Amino acid sequence: MPRISELIDLSGQTALITGAAQGIGAASAHRLAEAGASVVVTDVNEAAGSRRAQEIIHAGGRARFLPLDVGRVESFPAAMARIHEEAPRIDLLVNNAGIFPTAPALDTTPERWDAVLNLNLRGLFFLTIEVARQMRSNGGGRIVNIASVDALRPTGQLAPYDASKAGIVMLTRSLAVELAPYGIRVNAIAPGGIDTPGARASIPPNSAAASAMAGFVHRIPMGRMGSPDEIARVVLFLATPLSEYMTGALVVVDGGYLAD
Ligand code: NAI
Repeated sequence: MPRISELIDLSGQTALITGAAQGIGAASAHRLAEAGASVVVTDVNEAAGSRRAQEIIHAGGRARFLPLDVGRVESFPAAMARIHEEAPRIDLLVNNAGIFPTAPALDTTPERWDAVLNLNLRGLFFLTIEVARQMRSNGGGRIVNIASVDALRPTGQLAPYDASKAGIVMLTRSLAVELAPYGIRVNAIAPGGIDTPGARASIPPNSAAASAMAGFVHRIPMGRMGSPDEIARVVLFLATPLSEYMTGALVVVDGGYLAD
């Protein structure tokens, strides 16, 4: 039986993480690097993404930054060709990039809908396909999709987002079934409220959204928001043989929010 230290050892493997300049993606990049993976930090924010890769290197990990806009499907072949020059094989893909602009459903424009679905669902799908083709040639891989508790219970004023995250949950299952014969596992995480720069920016102080958030935190049995690292640890679990027999699963990490 393998030892625990072997089960979480990602040495010699390459992980590509989208939206990894900050928040959950950045925390995941740090943990995967700590487990020995060579991490490809990707983001649209080149300055913050480069800083993040440098931080990982300073902490003793292996990382590089490469720009990747998950909302621009047409750019994927060129972006992946560039990524492959430096990382010929991707063993792990973390589909983390996502936006969550709040607005009442009755005020939602087609442009807002398209922006959210284009990045959160369409981009995630086509990037996954691009990477999975290469994983199939290499004999396998693991894909971790960051969904949300909003896929299961709406928190309010996020209708397009909720639809995109529910779509991710079903895509996870569809792809898990289709890709299992190639040795590719596909799982998803449903984070609850996580204290990230993006979450903070979406809640201006003293706004209606801030009071809604206070009510949301009140409904979390553990009584607090989660930290990005508390999601990153579950990303690590799904990225390693610790979860070897799991595919198509949705792991809820929400301080008990959905249990209530
Ligand atoms: P964040 O906003 O703090 O960080 C998101 C990162 O994605 C940023 O670095 C941003 O530059 C990057 N990004 C934005 N557009 C991009 C694009 N087109 N292509 C590539 N990168 C892009 O977000 P946070 O909170 O860390 O969320 C990460 C994921 O977790 C998202 O998918 C979000 O929906 C999900 N999530 C977050 C929760 C929370 O409470 N923070 C709860 C449930 C899910």
